Amino acid sequence: MLPNKKALDLIKIYMEKDFTSKNLKELIKKLIESDLLVKTEDGTFTVRSEDPEELMHSRVGALTEGIEKFAVPSKVESIKNPKILDLCSGMGYNAVSALHYNINSEIDMVEYSKEMLFLSLALDIPIKEHFIVKNAISEFFKGNLNQKIRIFNEDARITLLRKDLKKYDYVFHDAFSPANDPVLYTVDFLKLIYETMTDSGVLISYSSSIPFRSALVNCGFIISEGPAVGRKRGATLAYKNPDEFQKKNIKRIPEADERLIALSTVGVPFYDKNLDLNSDEIIKNREIDRINLKNLLGNKCYSTTRIKAGKIDEKLLKIQNENLNSSEIIKKMKKIYFEY
Ligand SMILES: C[S@@+](CC[C@H](N)C(=O)[O-])C[C@H]1O[C@@H](n2cnc3c(N)ncnc32)[C@H](O)[C@@H]1O
Repeated sequence: MLPNKKALDLIKIYMEKDFTSKNLKELIKKLIESDLLVKTEDGTFTVRSEDPEELMHSRVGALTEGIEKFAVPSKVESIKNPKILDLCSGMGYNAVSALHYNINSEIDMVEYSKEMLFLSLALDIPIKEHFIVKNAISEFFKGNLNQKIRIFNEDARITLLRKDLKKYDYVFHDAFSPANDPVLYTVDFLKLIYETMTDSGVLISYSSSIPFRSALVNCGFIISEGPAVGRKRGATLAYKNPDEFQKKNIKRIPEADERLIALSTVGVPFYDKNLDLNSDEIIKNREIDRINLKNLLGNKCYSTTRIKAGKIDEKLLKIQNENLNSSEIIKKMKKIYFEY
């Protein structure tokens, strides 16, 4: 999924003009007048997406999200020279937030839409580190490389196959919601992320979707409940191989969600084996996988209502009382459920 087409078309017109502050200001004015650029509660701006009901950020604030959902929970300041993979970097709010907390961050920004990168040049994100991101984007438009902030203007599935990637301490995963656009939430894509992370690496996403968390467990991540910013449900933190300090911060996801991931067809993840399917194909394939699983389970298949209410076999329920993290619980429940 992409940002709103009318917004992209308007930005394209200004990309053809000189990059003067007069032109950039005029672009912002026109986007606001056409209700394509929307002011969030913290005063920073976001863009409507292809689905006019979905904004690129929550109403609580584009910058607030960057800070409270990504920079703070990742503890980006705790590493001297962190390497960050900023997926779906859009206007760069998350990159700017990370630099604010650690000026020595090395960031690889991955964004499909050239227009969103250009829009960052026209915005004034009220944090001084925005100038670092703006410089990198300006260099990108001139065809120059910036070693500290690299920009990959392509589908993230292509980026993850590159040979020149770093080993990342943090992966900011900020795609559109998986229900609308599951392309970057598949087991196959997340596996590539897993491989490109350092041992103590953390992936952070605002999404708490069941199939997404299920895919993370499937790939070997230890999942943890993150902060809820502007939404009811918490974000997701996914650790590769948490060290002792990280282990202390791991929080179980809601118990009903653990059961849904382990025992219900809602927990069937998305797949994209050759990393070339579109959203509709990925969604359709998952529906087929869900039907196949339901048939395979036959009479044993619990309804979602029973799973949510915890009306399941005592042997399975007891696993949730063990001193384990959510990923371990889900794997153990699954193993027992599918064995007998
Ligand atoms: C929810 S917005 C992210 C906002 C962003 N982090 C920011 O600070 O502005 C999602 C972004 O992902 C981009 N996108 C969508 N699909 C993509 C893909 N397959 N690869 C790379 N970027 C993608 C969209 O163009 C959009 O800018």
